[in-house]
Amino acid sequence: MDYVHGYSNRENSRLHDQANTLTELLHHDTIYPPGSRVLEAGCGVGAQTVILARNSPEASIISIDISNESIEKARQLADNEGLKNVAFQVADIFELPFKDETFEHVFICFVLEHLKNPLDALQSVKRVLKKGGSITVIEGDHGSCYFYPRSEEGMRTIKCLIDIQELLGCNSLIGRELYPLLNRAGFKNVRISPRMVYVDSSKPDLVEGFTKNTFNAMVEGIREQALQFQLIDEKTWDKGISDLYRAAGQDGTFCYTFFKGTAIK
Ligand SMILES: C[S@@+](CC[C@H](N)C(=O)[O-])C[C@H]1O[C@@H](n2cnc3c(N)ncnc32)[C@H](O)[C@@H]1O
Repeated sequence: MDYVHGYSNRENSRLHDQANTLTELLHHDTIYPPGSRVLEAGCGVGAQTVILARNSPEASIISIDISNESIEKARQLADNEGLKNVAFQVADIFELPFKDETFEHVFICFVLEHLKNPLDALQSVKRVLKKGGSITVIEGDHGSCYFYPRSEEGMRTIKCLIDIQELLGCNSLIGRELYPLLNRAGFKNVRISPRMVYVDSSKPDLVEGFTKNTFNAMVEGIREQALQFQLIDEKTWDKGISDLYRAAGQDGTFCYTFFKGTAIK
């Protein structure tokens, strides 16, 4: 799989920073009832899994990912956290090893943007969801990013990330598309809730956990690919990255919008 961010240690800690910083914003309204069976598709290293499991301690969560290595890390994390209501399994979202209508709920976070055919993935999870069950999908949209002081070079580095994902057949602008995608997949009662993160230096946790360690780290991670594909020259790249960090400085500000979609089968 051409997973743009890769599976390095730095990417693992980036995913944990992202999840921890955004817990309240993205998870506060996802609570599953006791006894319900929840499928988390594309759990990665378990960054969202531990939050899901803590918020719904009496729900039974099955988290799958295509990466064996990530599943091992997720399992270790859940063990370390003493979580008893999660099971992990290596599986492909397009060929789920579950019978039709196995789960009451499905949760997917930051996965569709990396798939060449997100609609097929939604239809695949719909198969294993019970009639009347819910799906929750959370995705970002890199086109929603703006910051102060503005910088053309900074915007160009972000555009490189968007373009590289597109070259790999993925879509980092997928947040704005959740509504049509969920409808096309045949779900009902589709509701989209945009969740904006606004960061300035009065929120040092967000400056570190979101602007620097989540967003800027993600853009920086594609440096070699951006230069290799000749999407940008080195000088413009370096200035752009430095300007993104400038927006995380004392008088800088940074905005990004996530999209959380819910729907019913
Ligand atoms: C950006 S990570 C997100 C992980 C986690 N949901 C989170 O928010 O921290 C995307 C994950 O999707 C997984 N993935 C990609 N294609 C997949 C597929 N076909 N089936 C299952 N998982 C897949 C990747 O292995 C990766 O762990």
